[in-house]
Amino acid sequence: MKFQIPKGLFDILPYGMNEKWKCIDYWQYVESVIHETAHIFGFKEIRTPIFEKAELFDRGVGATSDIISKEMYIFKDKADRSLALRPEGTSSVMRSYVENPQNFSKTPKLYYIAPMFRYERPQAGRYRQHHQFGAEVIGIETPEQDAEIIAMLWQFFERLNLKNLELNLNSIGDAGCREKYKSALIQFLSPNFAKLSKESQIRFEKNPLRILDSKDQNDKELLKKAPSILDFLSSSSSDHFKQVCSLLEQIKIPYVVNSNIVRGLDYYNRTVFEILCTDLGAQSAIGAGGRYDGFTEVFGGKPQPGIGFGSGIERIIHTMISQGFQPPENTSPFIYLIPLDQKSSDFCFLLMNTLRKLKVPVDMDLEFKKIASSLQKANQLKAKFSLVIGSNEIESNTAKLKNMLSRTEETVSLNQLEKIIKDHWKKNEIQRLS
Ligand code: HAM
Repeated sequence: MKFQIPKGLFDILPYGMNEKWKCIDYWQYVESVIHETAHIFGFKEIRTPIFEKAELFDRGVGATSDIISKEMYIFKDKADRSLALRPEGTSSVMRSYVENPQNFSKTPKLYYIAPMFRYERPQAGRYRQHHQFGAEVIGIETPEQDAEIIAMLWQFFERLNLKNLELNLNSIGDAGCREKYKSALIQFLSPNFAKLSKESQIRFEKNPLRILDSKDQNDKELLKKAPSILDFLSSSSSDHFKQVCSLLEQIKIPYVVNSNIVRGLDYYNRTVFEILCTDLGAQSAIGAGGRYDGFTEVFGGKPQPGIGFGSGIERIIHTMISQGFQPPENTSPFIYLIPLDQKSSDFCFLLMNTLRKLKVPVDMDLEFKKIASSLQKANQLKAKFSLVIGSNEIESNTAKLKNMLSRTEETVSLNQLEKIIKDHWKKNEIQRLS
C-alpha cells in the first residue's frame, strides 16, 4: 500500500518540479533573509518545542477564538496528559520567558522560524501545517517599539522584493475601551441580527468584535455603518496610536487605517496590524500582529508589555512566484566528475576529496554509468562544469573540462586540475556575490 500525506500537509522538496513553491531553494532563500533581517534589527532566535500543554494555548489564545474552539490538534500522551501541537508562537515564547526569566535580557527581542498546526479547511495559502517567521519583543511599551516591529516586517518584505503590499493598521485600545465599544457595536447590530451571516450570529453571542472580521459580503455591507473602535479609544491609547502612525510616516512606510482589523486571537490590545498582498486570493494576509500588553500575567509572570508579528512563509513564497522571483540555486555542484573505469574513479575520488576541502562544491558519478546518462545527471544537478576521465585521459595526462551552460570545452592538464577548477570557482563566486 502506498501512503499518502495527510490532508493540508506538504513536503518541501529538493527540486519541486511541478510545484515550484515546495522547492527548498525558495525556503532556504527566505530563511536566509529572515536571519539577515532579524540580525540587522538586533533580534535573537528562540526555538520552543512543537507541542506544549494544551491548556497553555487555551489560556493564551482564548477559548472563544477559532484556533482554540475548532482548530487545535490535541492528543493525550501515555500518561494521559493533554498536549497540543503548537497553533501559534506567541504563547510558547511567553511561557518560556516567564518560566526562566534569567535566560532572557530585561527587554528581549526574539524571533523564530517554526511550523504551526491548525485544523483548518485546506485551500491555496491555507494549510494544516504552515510555517511562520515570528517576532516578539517583551518589556517595551513605547510607540517606537510598535514602529520598529512593523518596520522589521516591512523591510523583510522589501528585501524579498515583494510588491503590491498594503499595511492595514488599527488600535483596539485597552480592555476599558473595548468594553464600551462592544456595547455600542451590540446596540448597532441587535436590530440587524437576522440579517447577519450564521457565523456572525454565533460570534454575536461569543465575541461580537470578531464580527468585524467577517468575510461575508452582506455582513461587510452592514458593517460599513457600524461605529468605529477608534472613536472609543482612551486618550492614552489614542495618543499612542497617533504616535505610531506619525513614526511610520517619518520612516516612509505607507499604511491605511482600517478600524475593522480586530485579529482572531484574544491577547491583543492597542496597536494591531495586517500586511496584505493584493496579488493573493482569499488568503491574502502575509503577516499580522500587534501589541499584547500584560500577556505575561496569563502565564504566571509579572505583567509586561509586549508586541510581535507572525508571517506565513508559504504565502510569502506564493507571492514571490506570482511576481516572477527566482531564488539563487546554491546547492548545485560546481563540477561533476565522471570516471569511466576503476583507475579513473580512484583519480576522481581523490580529486573530489581535495576540492571539497578547498570548499568547492563537487559531486561525482560513483556508479560508472554510460557517459550519456552521467552527463544527463550533471545536467539535472545543474552542475556548472563536468569532467570525463577515462584511460585515455589518464594516459595523455589531459582531460576536457566542459562548461555545461555554454557547451564549450577547455583542454586541461591533470596536474593543473585542482588549480584550474579552484580559479574557475573563485571567479564564479565573485560574480555570484557581486
Ligand atoms: P495569525 O494571524 O494567526 O497570528 O498568523 C500569522 C500569519 O501566519 C498569517 O498572517 C498568515 O500569513 C500565516 N498563517 C496563519 N494560518 C495559516 C495557515 N493555516 N496556512 C498558511 N499560513 C497561515 C499569529 O499566529 C500570532 N501569533 C502572530 C503574532 C505574534 N502576534 C503577536 N506576535
